[in-house]
Amino acid sequence: MLAKIEQLLQEIEGLNAQNTEELESFRIKYLSKKGIINALMADFRNIPAEQKKEVGMKLNELKNRMQARFTELKEKLDTQDNSAVEFDLTRTSYPIELGSRHPLNIVRNEIIDIFHRMGFTIADGPEIEDDWHVFSSMNFPEDHPARDMQDTFFIESHPDIILRTHTSSVQSRVMETSQPPIRVICPGRVYRNEAISYRAHCFFHQIEGLYVDKNVSFTDLKQVLLQFAKEMFGAQTKIRLRPSYFPFTEPSAEMDISCDICGGTGCAFCKYTGWVEILGCGMVDPAVLDANGIDSKIYTGYAFGMGVERITNLKYKVKDLRMFSENDIRFLKEFEAAN
Ligand code: PHE
Repeated sequence: MLAKIEQLLQEIEGLNAQNTEELESFRIKYLSKKGIINALMADFRNIPAEQKKEVGMKLNELKNRMQARFTELKEKLDTQDNSAVEFDLTRTSYPIELGSRHPLNIVRNEIIDIFHRMGFTIADGPEIEDDWHVFSSMNFPEDHPARDMQDTFFIESHPDIILRTHTSSVQSRVMETSQPPIRVICPGRVYRNEAISYRAHCFFHQIEGLYVDKNVSFTDLKQVLLQFAKEMFGAQTKIRLRPSYFPFTEPSAEMDISCDICGGTGCAFCKYTGWVEILGCGMVDPAVLDANGIDSKIYTGYAFGMGVERITNLKYKVKDLRMFSENDIRFLKEFEAAN
């Protein structure tokens, strides 16, 4: 029996498994219930008493060595290069989920496209701004209640630095660095300190437009906005301008479009007026042109500003503004078709 054990000890050192099937066959051969080692254990009963100690120790050694060898071979198989194995570790797992454009981006791009076709280029600017570009250069006098129209986020340690409340700050930056003709739209995120509800958020997105040149008139403004409304909401869309007030435009107006749900006859959506408000606009106040380095005796201009959420609500009838920033995949997936 001792000789047999010695032979087995040598045999298992020479074992090598190419794959898990081979390893399993070794396990069955040596370590399973009906394997060689168990058979030896059974024979052990018949060993004369004086040899039991020596044979018992050897038998245990064989069992432990076989178990250790098995673990060694298994580890070797687990860590070896699997490139020859028939599966592709680089393949994307199913189902392949494609993302889709956010509804606000879809609408933003559509608005940009429309104005781009009318000759406007895009201008960009910082979201963290100084008081000058957001308010002072836009003709908001110091301590004037007009500043309260836009609930501003200030930084306590540095009251001059604010989060922009409108992208008019970008218009100011464009005017101070270039001369007319200027024809830009300024898309971007803006911030206002408002309680979050279904109809207000502490941030939203705007697209503002600015056109400055010689002889720019209110008629030009009205025509451009009518064209925009028709392209955005359909050729049947009508517009209406109501007098309003903004510190940076004079005269100022708010623009409504005919309600595209009832076609202007009145429904719950338009609160039975037939009209829904979509933007603010006006002729750039000469004081704004002068403050930004443009000679108001030579040039005139118009400006307008709209909320992208507002336009998106009108287009897609999203009732709760908060949906836009919650990233609920079920909501976002509804816009896949519009991509
Ligand atoms: N800046 C205005 C706002 O955020 C919008 C606006 C822009 C109004 C240009 C008139 C002209 O409310």
